Amino acid sequence: MALVTTSKSNGIAIVKINRPDKLNAMNMDVARELVSVFTQLDTDNDVKVIILTGEGEKAFSAGADIEYMSKISADESVEYAKLGQLVTNTIELVSKPTIAAVNGFALGGGCEVAMSCDIRIAADTARMGQPEVTIGIPPGWGGTQRLMRIVGIAKAKELVYTGKMIKADEAEKIGLVNQVVPLASLMEETMKMANQIAANSVSGVKMSKIAINKGRNADLDTGLGIELLAWRNCFTDPDREQRMTAFVNKSKK
Ligand code: COA
Repeated sequence: MALVTTSKSNGIAIVKINRPDKLNAMNMDVARELVSVFTQLDTDNDVKVIILTGEGEKAFSAGADIEYMSKISADESVEYAKLGQLVTNTIELVSKPTIAAVNGFALGGGCEVAMSCDIRIAADTARMGQPEVTIGIPPGWGGTQRLMRIVGIAKAKELVYTGKMIKADEAEKIGLVNQVVPLASLMEETMKMANQIAANSVSGVKMSKIAINKGRNADLDTGLGIELLAWRNCFTDPDREQRMTAFVNKSKK
């Protein structure tokens, strides 16, 4: 059985981590499948938006596989973390917008994978955190870097040093998730946002993603230079011309 499943309809792909008996913990095989699925979706012209979630109602993902990590050497741990960082980098850099539908526990690697998505919508039952220090390690799939960029350095340090789990409403309060919805309507609400994005210009959204991602770690002047390139790029797309002409003519594209 696939450890990561994908379904597609109307321009939206839903990717599910499918190891519910282990709360979707990501062993090497799950991690490799995630890389492979997101790499394929990157060039799939039928897909405009990607939703990532976990199978079942209990977990998005409870993180890296602790049973596996309990037995490996320091050198093997580097290979595992490099694979984990490849997962999060591949998701972050995929050319389509991504939404994590956080349907339960998102801990350790689970939280890191959710943070590599562009947007997070959480079920009211979700619990998030970076509990790695409780088992003797720091976050290793990007958590020491992405969490502070999302919630600020003080909150990131608090969450990482304590290893505590926070509820969905607190995750929303600190900006770790964009929106909290009842578990029963999680996919409906996530699809609503995905459809709204999918209705927009593919290149407009794609160039926005590139400009925001590349600009985030750059100084303002460099970021504004990237924005200009992204802007110009869209002026070569016929879709842009059709959308603007339709607006001017008060017609639908
Ligand atoms: N790695 C490997 N297996 C895991 C796992 C992980 N990260 N998280 C959960 N599992 C497994 C459990 O071992 C258990 O397997 P079993 O049924 O074969 O014994 C199964 O998933 C269910 O988990 P369980 O702990 O029984 O569920 P719970 O409801 O009592 O607790 C959690 C849920 C999320 C609080 C608990 O599973 C947990 O703390 N997991 C680890 C979270 C973590 O530290 N992640 C960071 C890793 S770096």
